Amino acid sequence: MDLLKRIDSRKAVVGIIGMGYVGLPLMREFCAGGFHVVGFDVDTVKVKSLNAGKSYIKHIPSSVIGENVKAGRFRATGDFAGLRKVDAIIICVPTPLDRMRQPDMRYVVGSGETIAKHLRPGQLVILESTTYPGTTREVLKPILESTGLRTGKDFYLAFSPEREDPGNPRYSTRTIPKVVGGIDARSTRAAAKLYGEVIERTVPVSSCEAAEATKILENVYRCVNIALVNELKILFDKMGIDVWEVINAAATKPFGFQAFYPGPGLGGHCIPIDPFYLSWKAREYDMVTRFIELAGEINVGMPDYVIQRLMLALNERGKSLKGAKVLILGLAYKRDVDDMRESPSVTLIEKLREHGAAVTYNDPHIPVAPRQREHNLGLKSRKLTPSSLRSQDVVLISTDHSCYDYDWIVEHAQLVVDTRNATDHVKKGRAKIVKA
Ligand SMILES: NC(=O)c1ccc[n+]([C@@H]2O[C@H](COP(=O)([O-])OP(=O)(O)OC[C@H]3O[C@@H](n4cnc5c(N)ncnc54)[C@H](O)[C@@H]3O)[C@@H](O)[C@H]2O)c1
Repeated sequence: MDLLKRIDSRKAVVGIIGMGYVGLPLMREFCAGGFHVVGFDVDTVKVKSLNAGKSYIKHIPSSVIGENVKAGRFRATGDFAGLRKVDAIIICVPTPLDRMRQPDMRYVVGSGETIAKHLRPGQLVILESTTYPGTTREVLKPILESTGLRTGKDFYLAFSPEREDPGNPRYSTRTIPKVVGGIDARSTRAAAKLYGEVIERTVPVSSCEAAEATKILENVYRCVNIALVNELKILFDKMGIDVWEVINAAATKPFGFQAFYPGPGLGGHCIPIDPFYLSWKAREYDMVTRFIELAGEINVGMPDYVIQRLMLALNERGKSLKGAKVLILGLAYKRDVDDMRESPSVTLIEKLREHGAAVTYNDPHIPVAPRQREHNLGLKSRKLTPSSLRSQDVVLISTDHSCYDYDWIVEHAQLVVDTRNATDHVKKGRAKIVKA
């Protein structure tokens, strides 16, 4: 196998399956590192857009794609026969939950079956999609070996979790250390070699299972700690204590405390989903992951808590939720991104509608609410003006985008329910603000 030499000389071509929030930034790094990259995706609209030099993700500028397409370093395709020609294949496809909240492996399995049709000796296959420990060895390896080719002998196979944090100004794909675990030592070395060329630090671990478990640990850790502060928010509120003030004070401790903040519920494609991949796998070992289940229960209940607070605030003003006009600020699952997957704002909109409220939203990053697998809100972002704010019975801050002028919002709104402590600094009109 001359893969390592081809990586050294930049002759190795990198194929990325799934050109989404993970695949696209990865492409940028490999291109910047002097590699040729081919992006494979089943979505023909995305393929066309990429080849025309257009980005569909806010924090990846079109210029990055355009320049690489023009220079011949990058192209996208829906023709998977081209997999045979690349040296490394990195899988970045979705790993959602199905209706029964069990791992939905169809994209990973589908990608594996497609690769198997074109696999040739000497290739390196890496799975990046977040999943339960065991996926690479138990799911992917048998599919790839159905070709008659063998890992360790004919091709390399590894897992390397994606740790992308879209919108984070401090860390990028290149500067976030990359954990790598192969199916065998040679696979670990090959994968670490490839990433090591374009990412500042690679962290080899002893197996693909250890790499898979690392990613799950990181997400369970966040999920559990967010649940903890969510529960404390409810308790402290009853006690007349502001949970954000307490967290910020605790965060001044220089050791032994890491700040997590409460919110209207979990969002994004990772924290609300990935821990349940582990819960599902744990059943095979007769284990119940109690921390994960409890955290899930608390986090899932947060939109109801927010609605209850909102309802009481309206009640105090002699109004009912039924028939009330509610404007949600922020549809994205977190600040300054254009991604609304699993966003608690969507749950809030649906639940408020069930209660008979007339709900609209504003999000400068999401002008039209796209149809999703499970939701179709049929809404467009509403312009914020003094009169549009005034016309609402309540403005509900669900996502604290940094472009919002919270002083101005509070000035013109009748009532503001703030789930993010975004109005903390607002001095005027505090009587209109209810934290939830
Ligand atoms: N977005 C993040 O910030 C992030 C962070 C860490 C981990 N992850 C994980 O990375 C994985 C990918 O997430 P994402 O956010 O990039 O998803 P995404 O939906 O943005 O992108 C996935 C892409 O894969 C394509 N695709 C689906 N099935 C395919 C197939 N069979 N062949 C080729 N292409 C296919 C889709 O068209 C889409 O373009 C998931 O496992 C996710 O949990 C995401």
